[in-house]
Amino acid sequence: MVHTQQITNMRKKIIAANWKMNMTIGETESFLEDFRMEIEDVNGVEILIAPPFTSLAKLSELLGGSQKVRLGAQNMYFEAAGAYTGEISAAMLRELFVRYVILGHSERRQIFGESDALINKKVHAALTSELRPILCVGETLAERDAGKEKEVLETQLKGSLAGITAEQMLDTVVAYEPVWAIGTGRNASPEQAQDAHAHVRAVLTSLTNAETADKVRIQYGGSVKPANATVLLGQPDIDGALVGGASMEPRSFAEIVKAAAK
Ligand code: 13P
Repeated sequence: MVHTQQITNMRKKIIAANWKMNMTIGETESFLEDFRMEIEDVNGVEILIAPPFTSLAKLSELLGGSQKVRLGAQNMYFEAAGAYTGEISAAMLRELFVRYVILGHSERRQIFGESDALINKKVHAALTSELRPILCVGETLAERDAGKEKEVLETQLKGSLAGITAEQMLDTVVAYEPVWAIGTGRNASPEQAQDAHAHVRAVLTSLTNAETADKVRIQYGGSVKPANATVLLGQPDIDGALVGGASMEPRSFAEIVKAAAK
């Protein structure tokens, strides 16, 4: 037990902003100025901003290799280069010092029809290019109502992470985002979230081993805000948050980061 506790404590919390299709370059600049002041005294939390592709270069320049706030992308394609109109490669992201890439977000799955098989190719391509995937999984309301949430999580994890080695798993973050909690103002209760996170970790154990799964960070996403961040982040298997709406306002995102630093 003591051993498990020690490993658990090694998981540094990771708080990520997913701005989705919001925030112009100008808005990004003013956000960063205010946000940096808000988090000046915060330490011990990994902070990440995933803006739209169009703001990545500017944000990269403004961050200037900052260790405090890191850069993430919201998507990428698995091919290295070529005739893929509208897509972005891992190398293009690496050139801008992007560290993380969100893959398999439920909006990509639902609106753009991404399958676990496609997401799996992207996960492999990201890892090969030394980008850390933030793999999103989560059930819909209908799936939860049918009592199928665990089954859905298992299918998504097994499909999206097929062929990943234990070593690669350590470079991967998983985000549990129940679809019914995204942008709805209705977050999962701390118990529901903890239960799902423990299940995700159990599936990761079956895919790798217990020691590896114990080290993987699992973020919760879905209507995270300053008012619920502390209790959600206080759950034993919740290692961070992937924040949409509340991440676009410097103070509210900073409050969530501070909740993780507690
Ligand atoms: P909200 O925080 O707006 O619910 O969005 C969550 C999300 O989808 C983050 O990826």
